[in-house]
Amino acid sequence: MERELALEVVRVTEAAAIAASQWIGRGLKNEADDAATTAMRKMFDSISMSGTVVIGEGELDEAPMLYIGEELGTGQGPKVDIAVDPLEGTNIVAKGHNNAIAVLAIGDEGTLLHAPDMYMEKLVVGPKAAGKVSLDDPIEKIIDIVAEANKKRIADVIVSIQERPRHDDIVRRVREKGARVHFFTDGDVGSSIAACLPKTGIDIFTGIGGAPEGVISAAAIKCLGGDMQARLVPMNPEEEERCIAMGLENPRQLLHLNDLVRGDDAIFAATGVTSGDMLNGVLFLGDDLVETDSIVMRCKTKTVRRIKAEHRMDYKPDFYKMNTIDS
Ligand code: FBP
Repeated sequence: MERELALEVVRVTEAAAIAASQWIGRGLKNEADDAATTAMRKMFDSISMSGTVVIGEGELDEAPMLYIGEELGTGQGPKVDIAVDPLEGTNIVAKGHNNAIAVLAIGDEGTLLHAPDMYMEKLVVGPKAAGKVSLDDPIEKIIDIVAEANKKRIADVIVSIQERPRHDDIVRRVREKGARVHFFTDGDVGSSIAACLPKTGIDIFTGIGGAPEGVISAAAIKCLGGDMQARLVPMNPEEEERCIAMGLENPRQLLHLNDLVRGDDAIFAATGVTSGDMLNGVLFLGDDLVETDSIVMRCKTKTVRRIKAEHRMDYKPDFYKMNTIDS
């Protein structure tokens, strides 16, 4: 993949974030998602690549845009797999909470796991503990290993877990072990990556969340030198069949980082919609000026770029302000 692509795709997440930001706090999650999806789709048209959506908004019959199999880009340039989540945290935006992002990952053709839309069990640790833990280990052992790797007391180890009843048992065990729990309500892409970033305080991310989100996170975690293991959680025979159809003989096999994102030619880009562990949200500065905060990473060189941009909305094409609410 050409390295220019890494800078090009930031425009895509910026456009989606700005479009979604019009809907922060309005209680309308589908409208926010639609605005982000439309802006992201249109911006992709200008990028020199021959991309195919492998993780998107659903199948062709469910999603008019960014559906799995949709071809994106000008058709000239590298052949790539594209995984998108135009708005990660639809409820967050609807409620005006923290941690919503517009996000995507790109890999050489055939390198991103074509994860079906189902649940996935995940474990993420930062670079110092990479290669030392397994999703099959009990959480108590994982905490011991990560505490040693990160040179922390058990009492200072923070485990990030999505606040859901399905996580009650693991939350109890983390607390009984003496470590701390950091709950987040939604948005496990940003929260899982936070375990690999310095100074977030998060040492471990674990729990069950969306499989598509898992693959997108894996691209960033690989760029940051962290580690991730995962396991799909099919809930019924149809979901089992889907796993088998996508080539996983054993749907419950342990997936390593390299199974989620093969090789090292991947790019991850995200722009904050509302502020969170990794990014600031879209800021409205007045006078039609909007500021965005983005991060782009390339696995090959492990370069992490942070891009602050000021956008003059009066110069932007309409799709930036998709479905804008005039007041
Ligand atoms: P959406 O943006 O699609 O609403 O997903 C938000 C999210 O929190 C993901 O980050 C996470 O993987 C998933 O939902 C968890 O699913 P559930 O809400 O069913 O627990």
